[in-house]
Amino acid sequence: MAVAKLQVPRGTFDVLPKDGERRRALEADAAKALSLAGYGVLETPIFESTELFARGVGESTDIVQKEMFTFEDKGGRSLTLRPEGTAGVCRAYIEHGMHKLPQPVKVWYSGPFFRHEAPQAGRYRQFAQIGAEALGSDDPALDAELILLLREVIGPADTRLRLSSLGNAETRGEYGVALRKHLRAGENRLSDEVRARIDQNPLRAFDSDHPGTREVMADAPRLIDRLAPDDAEHFADVRALLDEAGCDYEIDPGLVRGLDYYTRTVFEFESAALGAQSGVGGGGRYDGLVEQLGGPPTPGVGWAAGVERILLASPHAEKLAGSPRIYVVVTKPEKHREAFGITQALRARGVPAEMETAGRSVKGQMKQADRMGATKAVIVGDRLELKDMLDGGQKVIEGIEDIVSAR
Ligand code: HAM
Repeated sequence: MAVAKLQVPRGTFDVLPKDGERRRALEADAAKALSLAGYGVLETPIFESTELFARGVGESTDIVQKEMFTFEDKGGRSLTLRPEGTAGVCRAYIEHGMHKLPQPVKVWYSGPFFRHEAPQAGRYRQFAQIGAEALGSDDPALDAELILLLREVIGPADTRLRLSSLGNAETRGEYGVALRKHLRAGENRLSDEVRARIDQNPLRAFDSDHPGTREVMADAPRLIDRLAPDDAEHFADVRALLDEAGCDYEIDPGLVRGLDYYTRTVFEFESAALGAQSGVGGGGRYDGLVEQLGGPPTPGVGWAAGVERILLASPHAEKLAGSPRIYVVVTKPEKHREAFGITQALRARGVPAEMETAGRSVKGQMKQADRMGATKAVIVGDRLELKDMLDGGQKVIEGIEDIVSAR
């Protein structure tokens, strides 16, 4: 009887070695840039209490309302696979009393995140993020530093940077009243979705592609015109620092991020190469979040970028050069053990070596050595020979030392 084949769940995928290498290289480059800027690694659990995200990300957001993978553990506690990393970082900051450390506390993370969204190109139910957060300072230099770091982590992808400021909670509250009034006045032209959320989340109207909604939004009041003087000054400082660093950006008063915790600066790098899911990485300030989660008043700023989206948006890098490999050719079964010993000894010297393990003929092994880009083959027969895979030259050698020095 045929046994049914199993497949990965919808919206998830396997990373095959070809892509695995690109992903690891991206993470290694990010680690380098972030560590150079003083960011340490912070790892938080992949599941957390559901309440953390409800309180942190915001009850009215799509993430909390529709997209969380929530389950009960055996003790009846509600847990959720993390849909994002900032809430967990703030929880850890509070839990470990990090406000007592010298501020700011700068951390970064990478790993899997989970959102129950309709899968499409660039949008998955399990995806990887690289993220960075700086807590405990409201210095605009951190906003600018983080934006520059995100630009560096995204790398050669062709992106544009959208930038805005959401001001403080009070300004947002007052602005919400004015925006709702404006939306109510044009209510009959709005999409059903936007109309249904006028009270709950009027900012969503900025995100809409619906023609009527866009018309109404064209002359909507702008939050950026109503910033309190200190918020306006903060935003001007962030812009001046980005100008100083030669970083291009577009001020976009309609930039809405899908999480509730933002205050002041918000930003997003977008790539036209990605189609509908154009956000490669984004973030902003969240000066009230730590307090909202039960900690002391603590400003914070950060971002996260999607690993899959960075790679989709990036021009395909040249095939990774990789280190030249030595292929250890087994000419007959009696030589199998010796070949194994040579391979291990080469690796112990830091020489990348592979031995034949698929029972190929000597000719087949040479082909395989070629396919994997080996620069030399060690032929283990009655004598030990070293073949140069590039010029075909072959010579008898005494032992390991000759291989190491011939590299
Ligand atoms: P976010 O914009 O929701 O922000 O997600 C950041 C990035 O994660 C997106 O730009 C995108 O590249 C990637 N991403 C999100 N959802 C998916 C998905 N379903 N499939 C593939 N990639 C996805 C945050 O998560 C905030 N925590 C960022 C932040 C940090 N703000 C302040 N600090």
